[in-house]
Amino acid sequence: MFKLNNIISAVIFIKIFGNSSANECNTSQIILSYAPINDSQEIRGQIVIYWFLEDFKLGDSLVLYHDTKDLFFTYFPKNSSGFVKTGIAPVDARYSLESMYIDQCTGYHVAWLRNSTELMLTCLSSHANWMYDNRKIIENLTLAELFIPGTHNSGSYRYELPPTILDRYTVTQEKSVMDQLLTGIRYLDIRPCIVDNKYWVCHGLFAMQPLDDIFKDIKDFLDNTMEIVIINFKEFPQGFEILESHLNFLNYLLDEFEGYFLETFQIHQKTLGEIWKSDNRLIFSYVSEFEGKIYRYWTPVNQQWGDVKNVAKLESFVNESESAAKLESNREFSKMNLRAVMAEITLDSSMIIVDAALFYFGRGEKSLRELAVQTGPLVTMWYKKRHFKTANIVAVDFIDATGIIEVAIWSNIYRAKCDMSN
Ligand SMILES: *[C@@H]1O[C@H](CO)[C@@H](O)[C@H](O)[C@H]1NC(C)=O
Ligand SMILES: *[C@@H]1O[C@H](CO)[C@@H](O)[C@H](O)[C@H]1NC(C)=O
Ligand SMILES: *[C@@H]1O[C@H](CO)[C@@H](O)[C@H](O)[C@H]1NC(C)=O
Ligand SMILES: *[C@@H]1O[C@H](CO)[C@@H](O)[C@H](O)[C@H]1NC(C)=O
Ligand SMILES: *[C@@H]1O[C@H](CO)[C@@H](O)[C@H](O)[C@H]1NC(C)=O
Ligand SMILES: *[C@@H]1O[C@H](CO)[C@@H](O)[C@H](O)[C@H]1NC(C)=O
Repeated sequence: MFKLNNIISAVIFIKIFGNSSANECNTSQIILSYAPINDSQEIRGQIVIYWFLEDFKLGDSLVLYHDTKDLFFTYFPKNSSGFVKTGIAPVDARYSLESMYIDQCTGYHVAWLRNSTELMLTCLSSHANWMYDNRKIIENLTLAELFIPGTHNSGSYRYELPPTILDRYTVTQEKSVMDQLLTGIRYLDIRPCIVDNKYWVCHGLFAMQPLDDIFKDIKDFLDNTMEIVIINFKEFPQGFEILESHLNFLNYLLDEFEGYFLETFQIHQKTLGEIWKSDNRLIFSYVSEFEGKIYRYWTPVNQQWGDVKNVAKLESFVNESESAAKLESNREFSKMNLRAVMAEITLDSSMIIVDAALFYFGRGEKSLRELAVQTGPLVTMWYKKRHFKTANIVAVDFIDATGIIEVAIWSNIYRAKCDMSN
């Protein structure tokens, strides 16, 4: 049907001349992400292809291949958008540690073919410098106008697999904060707590990771890139019972991030270009509740959390949040603040008890990880199809099970270059 050589030379062509897609306002996009395979719970177990093809014709194919290995997966979509699990484990992915701070193709590519003509080509890639890399296009967008991909409870990660029963309901991410940033995340949801006189990140009452490790990742990332990162400190689930602990923590933050932290009034209305003029690219939001009063410092982030228990409710919640934002922007009264949609399902204690009991008998299927694997592809499609013009911050669990980063990057270029009316 098509020849490997053609594809390989196409890859070389694209590497030399860049991806010179004819029409930037084209909405077609192919995204590679991950899903677990077989019994392993590892999120990066197999490669998933999402497609959204304008002008799709029956008979078109999507071909996943590796640029040096003899490997193919061919799929004939039945319609213009969807996703398919390929069963191909990313074992031959190449990452170079020396260039970890720039976007890297891993060797896996997917081509959209029509009668052996290649219509589009994408690679499985990191997104370590996507903001600065696209600066010539997106420099005049403000933070409030940008689509910013984020993680929900960013510090709740654990490497150990399989997950323990406690991990099932507390772990929200598979990889470190550094890994999340290299993957393309620019909004972090950090929940500091104090355990044994040390700062940690907690999920509810459970200490997940030492805060120092997370702060080191953020500083290393900022030292090595020109990216802009937003941290939302919130909840303070443990150890912040007296006001003094907040004051101590705020001082600690200011010391720790001196030279990184950007303190400016109305930061959500600053363009990326304006932020790049200063050397400081770290933005804080801080929301704490003390004796019934809410204290906010720095940049307000209007957090939208649906507390939803299933996929259908999540879909309506996302619909409602984004259509409200659309109405506001039509009224020009928009962009009051940054706005973060938590696009994840939340378990309540009765759901946890039921799932934990089922898990005991080998049948649990509602860990946060399993739910994220189920919703990840859907959230990606909802934002790609319906909400790409309104999204501001979107935070998800298990980022690698979604294509939200790629949708956000594409959407930002679209917002900067294309007609955004209607
Ligand atoms: C998954 O299971 C299938 C069938 O047992 C096997 O062929 C394949 O190699 C497994 N894949 C991985 C990544 O373990
Ligand atoms: C396309 O088909 C897939 C199943 O192959 C289905 O899940 C998806 O909803 C369909 N998409 C549209 C836009 O009809
Ligand atoms: C592919 O080529 C065949 C033969 O030239 C043609 O009949 C068919 O319509 C083409 N398919 C598409 C999707 O263009
Ligand atoms: C978008 O790009 C695809 C692939 O290059 C092409 O088939 C389609 O006609 C384009 N659509 C528009 C509106 O440019
Ligand atoms: C951003 O705005 C500045 C000042 O108006 C202008 O010179 C520059 O070309 C704009 N950049 C883009 C990408 O539109
Ligand atoms: C969300 O909105 C879309 C498009 O407006 C609609 O087709 C879909 O049914 C809505 N979903 C829910 C669950 O409300």
